[in-house]
Amino acid sequence: MRSKIVAGNWKMNKTLEATETLLAALAAKLPDTHAEVMVAPTFVNLTGAVQSLHASTIQVIAQNMHFAESGAYTGEISADMLLNIDIDTVIIGHSERRAYFGETDAILAKKVVAALDKNMRVMFCFGEELDDRKSENHFKVVETQLRNALFDLDASVWNKIILAYEPVWAIGTGETASPEQAQEMHAFIRKTIADVYDTSVANNVSILYGGSVKPGNASEIFSKPDVDGGLIGGASLVADDFVAIIKAI
Ligand code: PGA
Repeated sequence: MRSKIVAGNWKMNKTLEATETLLAALAAKLPDTHAEVMVAPTFVNLTGAVQSLHASTIQVIAQNMHFAESGAYTGEISADMLLNIDIDTVIIGHSERRAYFGETDAILAKKVVAALDKNMRVMFCFGEELDDRKSENHFKVVETQLRNALFDLDASVWNKIILAYEPVWAIGTGETASPEQAQEMHAFIRKTIADVYDTSVANNVSILYGGSVKPGNASEIFSKPDVDGGLIGGASLVADDFVAIIKAI
């Protein structure tokens, strides 16, 4: 059975103090839920976040990592560094990493392998740009992103993969894919995985939707059968909004 997951991607927001304030509010207000709840603070605040949440079920995850074990990669973070502070899940391939930091499918494929080699869970992000959707290339673009980064993996490691479909045109824009558009794409993704692997791999992978999920639209998006939760940016920075989204699942 695949898990339901609600994850907050805090991006480059919040000092340590603000991180701890938000985590305390989230831990205090966290509803009873069958879903996994995750937050991804910035690197420098991960240790503090892990310590703050030691008594909570909220998981702390990382926003990125490098593919190398260690070495001369100024400014980068390795899988071992994350594992050493009890972080075992990492977001890879966020559209902002692709767009602003030049992360190509080839680089992302290496990161995925590096994380899986260390037995980490990977939350792999992908999604089409507005022009792709306007030209009706969105299914092809998504399939290519998945193929280039994930489809060489052995079926046995897919229990460590979480997918996050995030149409770039919906991220931070206030524009959301309609629940029908999300369901249509998620069903396509699941079918593609079933074709490449099998229905067991396809049915067991959690596919999250990301892109302007808010308290007001979360329930409808999460009600779709192939939407297993959300990766939340802006709304995860406000305790009451994030809690409302968790309640929606
Ligand atoms: P958003 O960001 O919810 O602010 O649109 C989502 C994301 O980038 O993961």
